[in-house]
Amino acid sequence: MRIFLGITGASGAPYAERLLRELVAAGCEVGVSISDSGYQVLATELCGDQAVPRDEVRARLIAGLDGVTVHALDDYRSPYASGSARVDGYVVCPCSMSTVGTLAAGAMANLIHRAASVALKEGRRLVLVPRETPLSAIHLEALLRLRNAGAVILFAAPGFYHRPATIDDLVGFVVARILDQLGVENAIAKRWGQ
Ligand SMILES: Cc1cc2nc3c(=O)[nH]c(=O)nc-3n(C[C@H](O)[C@H](O)[C@H](O)COP(=O)(O)O)c2cc1C
Repeated sequence: MRIFLGITGASGAPYAERLLRELVAAGCEVGVSISDSGYQVLATELCGDQAVPRDEVRARLIAGLDGVTVHALDDYRSPYASGSARVDGYVVCPCSMSTVGTLAAGAMANLIHRAASVALKEGRRLVLVPRETPLSAIHLEALLRLRNAGAVILFAAPGFYHRPATIDDLVGFVVARILDQLGVENAIAKRWGQ
């Protein structure tokens, strides 16, 4: 499968990192694009220092992974910028409320917005993973608009009924739900009733 992963500036870098690793492990070809704030969050949450340079952040994110291409935010020559390219699924994880608002307005200021808009206009699978709390009426209206346009709104809200013991268990819970929505086989989290 070919998957686009947009990483924007909401808290939740561990979700993006684990998701990328699971997609590669499942044999997916993954195109990644990272917003400016996304780099800040990755530097803070993965590297422990917001000042870590972008190339180091990128290297840390894709270390040891095959089949991953990182596209610049203004790389509109990338296949993900056009509906004519074959892409099986699109995910923005984590998805900031700024990106939610932009997408809900139909605006496209960078490759992440463009790829998500392509998914909506082509009727393809788009999974948005927001992380914000509490939510304003503006946030809620924008999310409803996107849901009505076909996006799956999958909040970074792990459950506790599988009795997680580690942060990785909590991250895995959310990542498993994302993979399910993308149609990628996984056995990360125990399923209810198993
Ligand atoms: C460390 C850090 C954490 C942030 N956490 C969130 C968050 O959880 N949710 C959110 O919507 N915005 C969060 N923001 C603010 C967004 O990054 C900001 O609104 C930015 O303009 C989003 O742009 P983007 O969607 O292009 O990445 C955070 C910013 C930083 C630097």
